[in-house]
Amino acid sequence: MRFVIADPPTLAKSIADRIQALLDRKRDAILGLATGSSPLALYDELVRRANAGAMSFSSAGAFLLDEYVGLPADHPQRYCNVIDREFTSRVDFTSGSVRVPNPDVHDLQASCAEYETDITRSGGIDFQILGVGTDGHIAFNAPGSLHDSRTRVVRLSDQTRRDNARFFDDDVAAVPEWCITQGIGTILDATELVVIAEGNSKAEPLRRLARGEVDVDWPVTALNLHGTVTVFADSDAARLI
Ligand code: GLP
Repeated sequence: MRFVIADPPTLAKSIADRIQALLDRKRDAILGLATGSSPLALYDELVRRANAGAMSFSSAGAFLLDEYVGLPADHPQRYCNVIDREFTSRVDFTSGSVRVPNPDVHDLQASCAEYETDITRSGGIDFQILGVGTDGHIAFNAPGSLHDSRTRVVRLSDQTRRDNARFFDDDVAAVPEWCITQGIGTILDATELVVIAEGNSKAEPLRRLARGEVDVDWPVTALNLHGTVTVFADSDAARLI
């Protein structure tokens, strides 16, 4: 596992360099996208490069890591709307090439299985972008999630709902209780993974990751089972490494 420690704009540029190089050699690469605040500077950098004509997503595809269950389709915090607003509608992805788990069906388990099938049929995720929760969660895989877990419906932990209340006017009760998330096994199937971690609250999960731990109570440490992971951290997140 490699660690790159720098200020957030530099981190965004070096991850964008990798994605640009990937798309240069594989125009139809499949990206794994994350929501949350950590990737926002990266998305801005990719938009800047795409608008300057330096890169194109017109042949690429993307799969989002997770989605809330129970929010109306036009809710601004639905992850399909978040990723559209923050990134995908600002570049030249073609219609239908950005996939998000579908929570609007009666049979959620079938929806999860279909998402897994879609990822497999696409040829798999070439480059997965990940944030990390303060409790070490990745996507919405809370502590205790099994390493072979696949896309499924999970209940959000109290900690994650408190953390995410900032996107719901600080009203924890407004944060959905349920979501669909790619599993840890799904995430580990990606060819290359990057973790973006910024701020003091990410220091403990990064410390455990850097120590080489593999502990189901700290989901991010499952990445120690993968050979091609780079962690991009600012100095606050990296302070215990
Ligand atoms: C949410 C998302 C995760 C994300 C995490 C960290 O729980 N489901 O995918 O990694 O938050 O978010 P942030 O980057 O805002 O710290």
